[in-house]
Amino acid sequence: MKGTFFIETYGCQMNVSDSELVTSILINAGWKPAESIDDADLLLFNTCSVRQHAEDRVLGRIANEKSRKQNKPNLKIGVLGCMAQRMGKRLREIESVVDYVVGVDQYHLLPSMLEEETPLNVSFDYTQIYPGIPPAHSNKTNAFITIMRGCNNYCTYCIVPYVRGRERSVSMDNILNEAKKCVEQGLREITLLGQNVNSYEYSNILFPELLNELCKIEGLYRLRFITSHPKDLSDQLIEMMARQPKICNHIHLPLQSGDNSVLLAMNRKYTIEHYINLIDKLRNAIPDIAITTDLIAGFPGENETCFANTLTVLQNIRFDYAFCFKYSERSGTMAAEYINQIPESVRLKRLQTMIDLQRDITLQKFRDQIGNTVEVYVENFSRKSSQQVSGKTRDYKIAVLPGSKSDIGTLKSATVKDATSGTLICG
Ligand code: 5AD
Ligand code: SF4
Repeated sequence: MKGTFFIETYGCQMNVSDSELVTSILINAGWKPAESIDDADLLLFNTCSVRQHAEDRVLGRIANEKSRKQNKPNLKIGVLGCMAQRMGKRLREIESVVDYVVGVDQYHLLPSMLEEETPLNVSFDYTQIYPGIPPAHSNKTNAFITIMRGCNNYCTYCIVPYVRGRERSVSMDNILNEAKKCVEQGLREITLLGQNVNSYEYSNILFPELLNELCKIEGLYRLRFITSHPKDLSDQLIEMMARQPKICNHIHLPLQSGDNSVLLAMNRKYTIEHYINLIDKLRNAIPDIAITTDLIAGFPGENETCFANTLTVLQNIRFDYAFCFKYSERSGTMAAEYINQIPESVRLKRLQTMIDLQRDITLQKFRDQIGNTVEVYVENFSRKSSQQVSGKTRDYKIAVLPGSKSDIGTLKSATVKDATSGTLICG
């Protein structure tokens, strides 16, 4: 036995999935998951670089671990993920408690790094897809399966292409095998992950065909995927979503801005007209589809008219939910060099306006479901009551309903009695 490890994960679902991969790699090498952070001999931070705030949080967390290390001199601390990739050895210079820095393509080398006490391993080849390493799924009901890594899009605000490299896809066979195994283990909802799943391509197999094959897996209840890019969302994919009952009626389709000049400056490669046309197509093909999005407030050059255009689009499209972010300069990206940066106070004010507007729309969307019968995949006990369980509807809304432990992992039908802007309350 090599010792025990604990991973603290920040950022997106891809990082959660990467932590499951690292868990599997370490277990295979003889390490054991620690019961809690206090029991760990090795503490790993899997980090996010997408916004400055995410990096600051992790740096604060790591600095806080100084005293733990003083009390436990054999404790080793490692940094994984996008920040490790972006900052490399600088991380060890800034924070002396950091023993190991491991880039996003070097996770398979982690056991030997630990063995040989190699402090740093970050490469910029960006070819890794970790074939044949089944992740140690941490969730008992839902499986997250990475189908592609990296991004080719270079949105001008985004650090991801610089820290995760170019797009590369996992073979369909690997994905199917992993998915079958998950379903056999009772993880009956699968979410496919990738920075841009619509451009999945392996040996001429495209994303809709991959979905079609996955839907054939017996015992699979639901199939989801994140994230889609509006420029790559094909008619074939929309048709497949409409045709296959296992594919959930939800799509996450980041809009970022409702103004064409801002979309152009972001290098998003679509116009608002194209985006609205996609929404129409999706809603025509799948009338009860839920649509969620990402939005950025205060991108360089966004004037009051541009921002008003975004608010109008929000009112017209009526997303089920929007993740709203304040623009954050990432050094090395194009937009960080733009001269027309927006003052912090304006970014904040616009962010709040956006959130307030969307909160009302989301509440209305949830309340629209009152009286409907919904299918809930039960995932957990409710946090509020021992006689209640919680899960998600097919259209990705959290629902609470009466139930017990034996309901976890099953599909239950329930009637929506009430709703907040985050939860459907079912009877
Ligand atoms: N500033 C603010 N938000 C950003 N995002 C990505 N980069 C930045 C940035 N520099 C947001 C986008 C993306 C989501 C994952 O994070 O909205 O879709
Ligand atoms: Fe970043 Fe754009 Fe790629 Fe998404 S599509 S990861 S926002 S560069």
